[in-house]
Amino acid sequence: MCEVNKEVLSVKSESVQLSVERWTLRSHSVYVEILSLGAVITSIKTKDRNGHLADIVLGFDDAESYLTNPRYFGAVVGRVANRIAKGQFVIGGKVYKLAINNGPNALHGGIRGFDKALWTCEAVDNGVRLSHISPDGDEGYPGNLKVSVTYTLEANTLSVQYHAHTDQTTPINLTNHSYFNLSGQGTLDIYDHEVTISAEAYLPVDDTMIPTGEIRSVDNTLFDLRKPVLLGPRLKELPSPGFDHNFCLWVPGAPKLHTKCARVMHPGTGRVLEVSTTQPGVQFYTSNFLDGSLRGKGGATYPKHSAFCLETQNWPDAVNQPQFPDALLRPEEEYMHTTHFTFSVA
Ligand code: BGC
Repeated sequence: MCEVNKEVLSVKSESVQLSVERWTLRSHSVYVEILSLGAVITSIKTKDRNGHLADIVLGFDDAESYLTNPRYFGAVVGRVANRIAKGQFVIGGKVYKLAINNGPNALHGGIRGFDKALWTCEAVDNGVRLSHISPDGDEGYPGNLKVSVTYTLEANTLSVQYHAHTDQTTPINLTNHSYFNLSGQGTLDIYDHEVTISAEAYLPVDDTMIPTGEIRSVDNTLFDLRKPVLLGPRLKELPSPGFDHNFCLWVPGAPKLHTKCARVMHPGTGRVLEVSTTQPGVQFYTSNFLDGSLRGKGGATYPKHSAFCLETQNWPDAVNQPQFPDALLRPEEEYMHTTHFTFSVA
């Protein structure tokens, strides 16, 4: 059983006051806080092996800071998470152009993506459902898209269920962008975390972070995380500033399975996070672009490598890469994905 509560915060945005809802989900072992702004998870508190609670996600103390939230802490990202090459794609012969907000590419839904929207909330059993309507032409995307994200907490598992319908064919790729540090948010790095990702392949990227199109086996590469790998030494070996890559959980043509995709363990506290998903990929991102300039919870500064994200999602730029899993949602279809985050101790 999970206890669900709601309070309303008044948040100043430019000259207007916004009513932002803060929902809390509490089970015997896990506490989660969610804002209607950006459908952001602002806090996840879990116990270590001695029963001590700590908040294991990065974020801000005040709701106002989530109006800008430049690194997408905890947010639901959409309409299309990750990058679209040159912010451009073609559907039915028509070229669609999006805002370019990351080098030459479009990232995470645009200038005002779903992470900046004020979602409508309703209580559901063990959780909260947040809904949002993205109008035709929103950030350049076609079709009126109705989307909902349902967070539920049962015992030690937080589930995130994504649904969407559209009235015109559109690309879609929804994920949650939580930054975890299992030692407790505010800890300087994640070098002592052990990571396992059950992926046989990953997507190499070009120098603008767009997949080259190759689906490369992890065999004999630094991307082989199929057995637990200590992050610190592995990050030192990587030629790039860290992991910021899609790991392939599913290959086109195979039946869709609910896949246990990742396990991260922090030996010091015993905290373990396990992730499973129906999505075909997971972007493993080691917060390479954090640089200590944001003022986080409790005054924490978040330097590079102070957290990791496991963004379950479709493969980046799939709308432009026909050999990748289908990125389009058509009017007669239902978009539905689920990701489970399970917290335990070892
Ligand atoms: C991307 C990073 C990006 C970050 C923004 C991640 O999903 O993979 O490249 O910088 O989001 O916070």
